[in-house]
Amino acid sequence: MKSLGFYIHIPFCVKKCYYCDFNSYSNYNELKKEYVECLIKEMHLYKSKFEDIILDTIYIGGGTPTCLEETLLEKILGSCFEIFKISDMCEISIESNPGTLSRKMLKALKNCGINRLSIGLQSWEDEQLKQLGRIHTKDQFLENFNAARQEGFNNINIDLMFSLPGQSLKQWEHTLENIIELETEHISCYSLKIEENTKFYEDYQNHKLHLPDEELDRRMYQKAVQMLGERKYNHYEISNFAKKGFECRHNLLYWKGKEYIGIGAGAHSYLNHKRYSNVCSPPEYIRKVKEQILPIDEVTVLTKEDQMAEYMFLNLRLKEGVNAQEFLERFNVELSSIFGHQLSRFVQLGLMEQKEQTYRLTARGIDVSNQIFIEFI
Ligand SMILES: C[S@@+](CC[C@H](N)C(=O)[O-])C[C@H]1O[C@@H](n2cnc3c(N)ncnc32)[C@H](O)[C@@H]1O
Ligand code: SF4
Repeated sequence: MKSLGFYIHIPFCVKKCYYCDFNSYSNYNELKKEYVECLIKEMHLYKSKFEDIILDTIYIGGGTPTCLEETLLEKILGSCFEIFKISDMCEISIESNPGTLSRKMLKALKNCGINRLSIGLQSWEDEQLKQLGRIHTKDQFLENFNAARQEGFNNINIDLMFSLPGQSLKQWEHTLENIIELETEHISCYSLKIEENTKFYEDYQNHKLHLPDEELDRRMYQKAVQMLGERKYNHYEISNFAKKGFECRHNLLYWKGKEYIGIGAGAHSYLNHKRYSNVCSPPEYIRKVKEQILPIDEVTVLTKEDQMAEYMFLNLRLKEGVNAQEFLERFNVELSSIFGHQLSRFVQLGLMEQKEQTYRLTARGIDVSNQIFIEFI
């Protein structure tokens, strides 16, 4: 029996945020019901190809999954349980946006087996939320968070972003202080990235967006590491912090290069060293699935070199880092013979530290992690 992660993509949002280039749309509302029917068809298509699989984690992401009606979410999860074998300890996460989490929605999520709720707050300041094009206020978030606790959610993640236009270190500290008080189990902190084809990209090109400089961006990141560390959050991945035992098992599966199936528009799967990407456009996705074919747009075969490079930059994102013994067992070749040169240079530069068989990024290394990762490709 093969144990896998399972990702379900919901490409709908109430409104597109100004910074977001995720595969999500606010103009396909009329497709929601048909889309969900196609998700279920796609589940059947996978089931017919892989008889012997058991799902160890399920992650419903987006977009904003909670902008679907409760009955549609119930259909998706109900079908998942009907079609696949699900492990007893399965972590079942859903992403949500404040403003879409009514009591009725929370009860439905709980009833259909969701045991991990992720809420995208981004910032504690209403002024910043408005600037980001978010649909909610901080008070709406608080109301949703408290309601989720009352409905019995005891594994909640909160997404935050820093390095926002005009944001000061004090404002970021204020967001962190308030979130820490909520005693949530998991916190993700992302530095705002200006992505092409977004309103922010256009504003940036037109010099209308005043972003913190790189030094302030790094000070904000270090502030999060310090404050969350003081409150016993385990900084287990570059952008992720969790109370002991609440690390996200689904995301860990990606970072550890394990296999997963992704269904829905634009979703990716990773199976037998091949990466499959589904078509991104929801109407195109629906059209393909209706023809009873897997809606795959692209297949990339990862060579052994690709796999080794990916192993390095994914594992270096993790606190536990890269382990030479594990590398040897996985690839049947010594880590030092492939990446020895890069590793010793980064250790010498103080960007990595070596403890026996393990290499991990130092705080300075994390600050330049993207440049480091490139060296392994
Ligand atoms: C799919 S969204 C989460 C669920 C929901 N759609 C929401 O926004 O609340 C994933 C997260 O990625 C982060 N994110 C999205 N675009 C980003 C960007 N351009 N830079 C940094 N973080 C970004 C945000 O923190 C967001 O909550
Ligand atoms: S950040 Fe979330 S809510 Fe905003 S557009 Fe992107 S996916 Fe939708």
